[in-house]
Amino acid sequence: MADKDGLKVAKNYDPETPFGNSGSFHVKGSNNLDWGMKKHLSNIFDPKSGKTVMFAFDHGYFMGSTAGLERLDLVIPKLLPAVDVLMGTRGAIRTCIPADSRKAIALRVSSGSSMINDDLSHEIVAVDMEDSIRMNADCIAVQTFIGADGQLSSIDNLSKCINAGLRYSIPVLGVVAVGKDMERTDRFFKLATRIVAEMGANIVKSYYCDNFEEVVAGCPVPIVVAGGKKLPEKDALTLAYNAISGGAAGLDMGRNIFQSEHSLEMAFAIRKIVHEGFTDKEAWEFYQDSIN
Ligand code: R5P
Repeated sequence: MADKDGLKVAKNYDPETPFGNSGSFHVKGSNNLDWGMKKHLSNIFDPKSGKTVMFAFDHGYFMGSTAGLERLDLVIPKLLPAVDVLMGTRGAIRTCIPADSRKAIALRVSSGSSMINDDLSHEIVAVDMEDSIRMNADCIAVQTFIGADGQLSSIDNLSKCINAGLRYSIPVLGVVAVGKDMERTDRFFKLATRIVAEMGANIVKSYYCDNFEEVVAGCPVPIVVAGGKKLPEKDALTLAYNAISGGAAGLDMGRNIFQSEHSLEMAFAIRKIVHEGFTDKEAWEFYQDSIN
């Protein structure tokens, strides 16, 4: 192991310079992958914009019934026209998503904690690869707890999923967790996103932060940004715009969509930012026009 006392602070991220190994493929860090992986990644990231609107409704895996997701069967199907990817558990998807939906699937496969626990950082891989394939998963999502008590076991989970994913050409989405005592700084996100990418994850889900451009530049695979707790719609659109402007390859929003009073209109406004280059101001005007 390197002597950590001798390490210098990393600073030469050069965010203005595009990723160096893009080749002809539109997903960052995936140019050297095989056809099957690229096909799944193309189901997730639009080849035209290179980006994605992922809709996260996997909260029940540790929160149980969540505000806004009390009726998965009613809430999720109506949002399908506005999103590219459905991020959920196999239980939610099998029971509540019409099988003829053409949307990509980001299947949550790690679990093992609940809101009743003090420490949420200990998980297992709950879904085996055979079932992920049966579910037509375009990627499998694994929570990682860098810097938390469960770091080692979560990297073990991630690595096992990546090894299985490589066997069957199923990409892995490494989810960076932020526990209640963990810092939400660029220093932390540079560390966490890079570790997850170097373990072999094909997509990293993280959070927006100061110096986000440097977090993106230092991570050799696409970063999709989670929304976090519900914000006023205008602020959530600004968060989305800042993330996309800072180099995010998409949004993976949950509560800021499904807890909005006008969830479908909100999802469409986010879509305008992600795929059509709308500013937050333009998206806010679009949202207001849509609800009136
Ligand atoms: C949390 O671990 C879940 O994976 C959610 O998918 C994630 O937090 C994104 O949802 P939200 O935008 O509500 O934070």
